[in-house]
Amino acid sequence: MSIRNLDDLLDEGVSGRRVLVRADLNVPLDKQSGEITDDGRIRAVLPTLSALVQAGAKVVVCSHLGRPKGAPDPQFSLRPVAGRLGELLGAPVHFAEDTVGDSARSTVAGLADGQVALLENLRFNKGETSKDDAERGAFADQLAAFGEVYVDDAFGAVHRKHASVYDVPARLPHVAGRLVLREVEVLSKLTGDPERPYVVVLGGSKVSDKLAVIEALLPTVDRLLIGGGMCFTFLKAQGHEVGTSLLEKEMVETCRNLLERSGGKIMLPVDVVAADAFAPDAAHDTVPADGIPSHRLGLDIGPETVAGFTAALSQAKTIFWNGPMGVFEMAAFANGTRGIAEAITKTDAFSVVGGGDSAAAVRALGLDESSFGHISTGGGASLEYLEGKTLPGIAALES
Ligand code: 3PG
Ligand code: MG
Repeated sequence: MSIRNLDDLLDEGVSGRRVLVRADLNVPLDKQSGEITDDGRIRAVLPTLSALVQAGAKVVVCSHLGRPKGAPDPQFSLRPVAGRLGELLGAPVHFAEDTVGDSARSTVAGLADGQVALLENLRFNKGETSKDDAERGAFADQLAAFGEVYVDDAFGAVHRKHASVYDVPARLPHVAGRLVLREVEVLSKLTGDPERPYVVVLGGSKVSDKLAVIEALLPTVDRLLIGGGMCFTFLKAQGHEVGTSLLEKEMVETCRNLLERSGGKIMLPVDVVAADAFAPDAAHDTVPADGIPSHRLGLDIGPETVAGFTAALSQAKTIFWNGPMGVFEMAAFANGTRGIAEAITKTDAFSVVGGGDSAAAVRALGLDESSFGHISTGGGASLEYLEGKTLPGIAALES
């Protein structure tokens, strides 16, 4: 890729320079306590931040968290993230109470060489996500004033045409951070010439979210294993009744068409765990995929399916996995996701875990992260990369 990266910047020297870093610190927070439940994305940006700190830069970090609507909203504050980032860096992180206002200006002005500031949530400002170029541009001007150079290390947000991702790099000299570089290197192996068999596992709730990636992958993969909530729309397309399981009726025809065109590459569950209700303590049984009782809903793939998927994965030389196989947050419906994750760790294939829920599942289930080839920090971003789409954040770094 013809993009300048952090090493080029470090070679130039950054001591005493203000470096604006866009990170994706959009971490899940516990609804009750507000505590960070998975700090994977914070840890992922440490290599870039530590290198800048050591080189004596004044580091100004910005990020979004959640989807606030263009105005301050305390439940989406980045303050807890500043605390955790400081612990992980081993140095205090100066937190600005706003993104581009008085607090941000004085916090940035007060930074000594090698110190780090975190600005408040970018999405507390309308300009960040605006569709209007002028409104985004005006916000980007304010942000860009905080840096002499811009580093994009927010892989999870490179698919967003947002001010901090797309417009700021048009205003400042720009480089890709270590995380963005690594993510693109890994994903380009999958779109290039992956070692075969290349097996993809897709889960998650909606077919409509995954349709574009399924279309893009079908010609390239050797096997496409489908689980999670979206498998029920495929099972329906095969003519099975799915009870009260998640179903996208308007997608049934599309799924039927995909199955017809897939040349047998698509593998669907042969059994599912069907429950009385969407609840951790709901009564449940394993039933054949063509025998889901009318009053029950499927919340996980069954053991026979795990065995079949495991057999397919054991042959693979390259694996991409995105999306849980069931409601892994509830212990009764976590076996499918755990089984697939374990099967992936046992192969000697080069494996990539798509970000978001599947990365969180790996950590929540206590699996060894190092037994995967790469765990992406981008959910939507990694899927759009595999679809072959132009990602605004990457395009901005290229120009
Ligand atoms: C993510 O979690 O998918 C990224 O942080 C991007 O967030 P978004 O989907 O709200 O733009
Ligand atoms: Mg998202």
